[in-house]
Amino acid sequence: MQVELTKEQVAQYYCEGFIALGPITTPEDLSRVREIYDELFASRAEFGRDLSFDLAGDSEEKPTLPQILSPSDLRPELKETLLYANAKRIVGQLLAEADPMIGDHAILKPAGYGAPTPWHQDEAYWNPAVTYNSMSIWVPLQDVGVEQGCLHFVKKSNRWEVLPHQPIGNNPKTHGLELAVPIDAEWEVVPCPLVAGGCTVHHNRTLHYAPANASHIDRRALILMGGAECRPYPGVRRYEWQERQAEANAPAS
Ligand code: NI
Repeated sequence: MQVELTKEQVAQYYCEGFIALGPITTPEDLSRVREIYDELFASRAEFGRDLSFDLAGDSEEKPTLPQILSPSDLRPELKETLLYANAKRIVGQLLAEADPMIGDHAILKPAGYGAPTPWHQDEAYWNPAVTYNSMSIWVPLQDVGVEQGCLHFVKKSNRWEVLPHQPIGNNPKTHGLELAVPIDAEWEVVPCPLVAGGCTVHHNRTLHYAPANASHIDRRALILMGGAECRPYPGVRRYEWQERQAEANAPAS
């Protein structure tokens, strides 16, 4: 099974900043990925703060949005799965064949109390001195609707600059970011429910959010990133929100 994007899907990605796709892998491959995913989260405590932390709060006691960075480095067999092969094909079809996969992460939204992922642009997390052309391929490992916390996008926000952000709850000890300006009623927000193993693909500037998990099933999502073309940002750009986080999380001297 090889994913082939249609011309319309490629055009929609460039015009609107995101696309939603049906399954990009087989049920057998997906269940293998899910098994590895669950094993990773079961041993999350062993990975240390560099690789695993709560995105939404500053306490690790009952994380409401636990994340694991680079799951395929921790479990390299993930890279051999059809899911990863097809994600690479998607990057190749939207950008260029030679463009690499940049990395991956896993975000679990626990049943019943998983926190919302506030509105943000992914680029707000990255190096302000650089401009990117990359994408995130967001894959739920079970069906996901609005109730479970599917992604929502703002159409055509991929063409915007990076808007002002702040640490979640304006608490610089949290790792996650949120938009620091109000949502405009004019923005066209599109929810993207998906079946298990389906995916959304969004550009690094596309504004997105996911509601809390109000269902009784953990929402497991894997995010694979691909792209290239990192060039110096034309001009001077500072991300004050990153500076505040760095200061608040620096070891006391
Ligand atoms: Ni994001």
